[in-house]
Amino acid sequence: MPPCLTLLLLSFLSPALALDFLFNSFNATINSSDLILISDARIDSTVIRLLNDSNQLSLGRAFYPTKLSLKPTSNSTTLSSFSTSFVFSVLPQIAASPGFGLCFVLSNSTSPPGALASQYFGLFTNATSHSVAPLLAIEFDTGQNPEFNDPDGNHIGIDLNNIESIKTASAGYYNSTNELVSVNMRNGQNIHAWIDFDGANFEINVTVAPVGVSRPSRPTLNYRNPEIANYLSTEMYVGFSASKTQWVEAQRVLAWSLSDAGVAREINTTNLPVFLIESSSSALSAGAIAGIVIGCVVFVIFSASGCYWLWRKKMSKDKEDEIEDWELEYWPHRFSYDELSLATDGFSDGKVLGAGGFGRVYRGILSNSTEVAVKCVNHDSKQGLREFMAEISSMGRLQHKNLVQMRGWCRKGNELMLVYDYMPNGSLNRWIFDKPQKVLDWKRRRQVLADVAEGLNYLHHGWDQVVIHRDIKSSNILLDYELRGRLGDFGLAKLYQHGQVPNTTRVVGTLGYLAPELANVATPTASSDVYGFGVVVLEVACGRRPIEMTKENEEEVVLIDWVRELYREGKVYEAADSRIEGEYEVGEMELLLKLGLACCHPEPLRRPTMKEVVAVLVREEVAAGPAELLNELAHGSDVDDSREVV
Ligand SMILES: *[C@@H]1O[C@H](CO)[C@@H](O)[C@H](O)[C@H]1NC(C)=O
Ligand SMILES: *[C@@H]1O[C@H](CO)[C@@H](O)[C@H](O)[C@H]1NC(C)=O
Ligand SMILES: *[C@@H]1O[C@H](CO)[C@@H](O)[C@H](O)[C@H]1NC(C)=O
Ligand SMILES: *[C@@H]1O[C@H](CO)[C@@H](O)[C@H](O)[C@H]1NC(C)=O
Ligand SMILES: *[C@@H]1O[C@H](CO)[C@@H](O)[C@H](O)[C@H]1NC(C)=O
Ligand SMILES: *[C@@H]1O[C@H](CO)[C@@H](O)[C@H](O)[C@H]1NC(C)=O
Ligand SMILES: *[C@@H]1O[C@H](CO)[C@@H](O)[C@H](O)[C@H]1NC(C)=O
Ligand SMILES: *[C@@H]1O[C@H](CO)[C@@H](O)[C@H](O)[C@H]1NC(C)=O
Ligand SMILES: *[C@@H]1O[C@H](CO)[C@@H](O)[C@H](O)[C@H]1NC(C)=O
Repeated sequence: MPPCLTLLLLSFLSPALALDFLFNSFNATINSSDLILISDARIDSTVIRLLNDSNQLSLGRAFYPTKLSLKPTSNSTTLSSFSTSFVFSVLPQIAASPGFGLCFVLSNSTSPPGALASQYFGLFTNATSHSVAPLLAIEFDTGQNPEFNDPDGNHIGIDLNNIESIKTASAGYYNSTNELVSVNMRNGQNIHAWIDFDGANFEINVTVAPVGVSRPSRPTLNYRNPEIANYLSTEMYVGFSASKTQWVEAQRVLAWSLSDAGVAREINTTNLPVFLIESSSSALSAGAIAGIVIGCVVFVIFSASGCYWLWRKKMSKDKEDEIEDWELEYWPHRFSYDELSLATDGFSDGKVLGAGGFGRVYRGILSNSTEVAVKCVNHDSKQGLREFMAEISSMGRLQHKNLVQMRGWCRKGNELMLVYDYMPNGSLNRWIFDKPQKVLDWKRRRQVLADVAEGLNYLHHGWDQVVIHRDIKSSNILLDYELRGRLGDFGLAKLYQHGQVPNTTRVVGTLGYLAPELANVATPTASSDVYGFGVVVLEVACGRRPIEMTKENEEEVVLIDWVRELYREGKVYEAADSRIEGEYEVGEMELLLKLGLACCHPEPLRRPTMKEVVAVLVREEVAAGPAELLNELAHGSDVDDSREVV
């Protein structure tokens, strides 16, 4: 017997009446004979709201009261078919927060056993091994949960009694030229979904498109497997389910039609309400509607400009989210915003590692459980960004054991996120100033300085382009697992070709570490980096900040001046940090202090290069040349210049 005849016979024999309904809106006339609302689900004006925003943990389900017949007997593998179509909207309160989404569900019970809220859609359990039980869901997932192998934060999936989807597809639709156009399911826009369930072929087709786009002919997701029969019972409730944690995300179902005897009836989408993040665009369309009433002239002007404005807005919005070609040219990995959002718990305050002038730094864990630091930088112009990206790209290629490795980046609108290796021991300044019980010992201090000198030397000389760091300071020096020093934060660094005159417009850097010449010429050079490094050397050797207030008369004491004065008086060793007294040889300490002073020479040309600095710090046996040079340079007075060293 051909399958269609079987179906015909069965439906003829079956006592159950065909299910065929259309809710073009859910309004006050809806009562329990139309819809079963579980937990936090409720009718809100003309839509179903699945969750309660004010609850920390919320779950809600809405089912059609009549069960859908799916099999003649519980053992049967002959399945019925149905077709359904609905319009939903998912609107987060904070775009960066973790997402949840909603499910279309076939369930044997309106309260599936073991159902959990949070990321489990209010349907699934957290069991690690899943039983075969009648529960089949189609998830419209707006969050990426790596623990469930979610491909991204905006996808559709087939779930067979398991939150880990058996098959997924990124949200989107195939247009007439068969190209996938992605659809953002998490910006509040009304999404039209169609589900065709072909029981005879054990096939499920899911299609989504924004309301306004006519039904695409090719489904977004196609799943075909006789396995689905195991997850269906003879009769099942059909409806929607969602859940969330503390972040607010409004899941709305605006219209729904279903038929188990043919194609579901068309939803008239013309007058559906729209829920959007920005109220400005809806205010404008309201203005346009008022224009129609007021008069033709006003209407024409209003709507024309309104359309133009919306078009412009849409264009710029599309542009913003679109990855432009040039963005792909750059080597370091481009992370998706959702990936970083997930890694940092939605950029939550609890994950903030620090905040600087350029933005906040978050601690994050990537889906492969690598720990990273995510630095968020605001930028104002696309042009600037492009230049910046060119640099970032180069930064990504800079690899040295004494540099904090950049792993990648991400851009969202005006925000740029830079992803670096996470440095568990924080920044050097904390180990010198903030930890009275656990100050860094002398050996470690010297090691860190040597590490940083090597890192900076690599930037200046180890590459085909000179990289100026521009912001050398102890808070930009990070300590890794082994308390080895690494130079971080290339946010300010600019690249210069060898021999080219660097040109910039404003001084960037940190007071106390800025070389004096920058006040006049504002063009950072390798030697202004050396100056900054000299300040760090003195900080580490003396255990004092670059600029300190005296306790007695609140006078500013500049560290360099203070050390230089002691040096002139012939007792530079008195500047050494008293907390590490006895750990060092006086000669060693003197050499370090002199090195610091030499680096801070007021004349840029008189400062040593990083190569020379490394020679002093790294090579144990100090040749007479550099030592003498340091003696001379540390003075800071106009000694006759004849610096032929190394
Ligand atoms: C309420 O919804 C029902 C079912 O969709 C519809 O028939 C009815 O016209 C609606 N009533 C109002 C006042 O919108
Ligand atoms: C639901 O509303 C219909 C009218 O719209 C009414 O006939 C029916 O009795 C109501 N059912 C319940 C359970 O309130
Ligand atoms: C949400 O839940 C709280 C109690 O948890 C309740 O007071 C409030 O009325 C609910 N809100 C809605 C819109 O149902
Ligand atoms: C279903 O299959 C089981 C064995 O797998 C059998 O015991 C039972 O009688 C069958 N029921 C029907 C209605 O066929
Ligand atoms: C489905 O639910 C009914 C009661 O609602 C129950 O008797 C039946 O055992 C359930 N089927 C399965 C396979 O769990
Ligand atoms: C599942 O969740 C329950 C409570 O929500 C918890 O007690 C249990 O440990 C969890 N099981 C797993 C495997 O995570
Ligand atoms: C289909 O989508 C692709 C990619 O978005 C686009 O380039 C193409 O023009 C679209 N085709 C039609 C007919 O709209
Ligand atoms: C599902 O989509 C496939 C094409 O991907 C098509 O061949 C099949 O007929 C569709 N089935 C239903 C039930 O719409
Ligand atoms: C959809 O509804 C609007 C009014 O709400 C009506 O003007 C239009 O004719 C309807 N379209 C269809 C196809 O029924």
